[in-house]
Amino acid sequence: MNEPSPRFWKIFFEVYEHLPRQGPGNRDCAARALRLCVGLPRTPMILDLGCGVGGQTLQLAELTTGSIMAIDSHAPSIERLKATLVVRDLSQRVQAQVGDMVHLELPPESFDLIWSEGALYNIGIGKALRICHGLLLPGGYLAFTDAVWRKENPPPEVKASFDLDYPAMATATDVVTAIQQGGLDFLGRFTLPDEAWWDDFYSPMEQRIKELRGKYDDDAEALAILDQIAREPEMHRRYSEYYAYEFFVARRPVSRKADNMKSSNRK
Ligand SMILES: C[S@@+](CC[C@H](N)C(=O)[O-])C[C@H]1O[C@@H](n2cnc3c(N)ncnc32)[C@H](O)[C@@H]1O
Repeated sequence: MNEPSPRFWKIFFEVYEHLPRQGPGNRDCAARALRLCVGLPRTPMILDLGCGVGGQTLQLAELTTGSIMAIDSHAPSIERLKATLVVRDLSQRVQAQVGDMVHLELPPESFDLIWSEGALYNIGIGKALRICHGLLLPGGYLAFTDAVWRKENPPPEVKASFDLDYPAMATATDVVTAIQQGGLDFLGRFTLPDEAWWDDFYSPMEQRIKELRGKYDDDAEALAILDQIAREPEMHRRYSEYYAYEFFVARRPVSRKADNMKSSNRK
């Protein structure tokens, strides 16, 4: 498979950076996942990994009174989040930072809650779980979403799309196994509803593509790239029964003894 061209990425970001979020999710789902994190401290230390422009970061700021560190490797998204934080007067409580999840220079055991919507898969779920385990305080929570297969034998178009974007995509049951093998206690999971795909993600994406079709009216290459990007929401419209986004909530064991036992089982 050919690597997408630099022009593809330029237009891809021209679409994505303008969306309220860069993946499926919504406030109700964030609130539901938070309810599984029973007994969080009153002002938890929260790390939001792969925050994008901060759709869920802003919801976490509303739903908790915690201090939030939001990290993403794509600098323009962090610039946009920083500007929003200023406008919303949240810069004291939410820190946005460019960084790579694999090379975080953060002290171990420093977070009560690690949040990550649609981003951990970029570094592989197993590796991400190890990193999160190390950054969580004992008893700290991990809440993340991940794309999963719902049904076997997807149509060739769906299979080809995920072979390209997320070849290691598994089932929800496989992810739960990975959580447990990663030394975390699995607390619960649920499937994101259809509106979590459309309201803040695919509907604004289709609107943005429409605007850019106007901008690139006489540019055949750009229009072809926009057609390519538009295939994703269209695929979801036709084939969403084959795949889902799942919220997973897990916890690092509270007791050091249980944590050490689980860790030695992992070796
Ligand atoms: C599907 S988007 C989700 C963004 C956001 N959480 C949301 O739901 O709107 C995945 C994000 O992960 C970020 N990302 C990918 N690899 C990363 C890495 N190694 N470290 C930090 N962020 C990363 C991307 O830049 C992108 O913003």
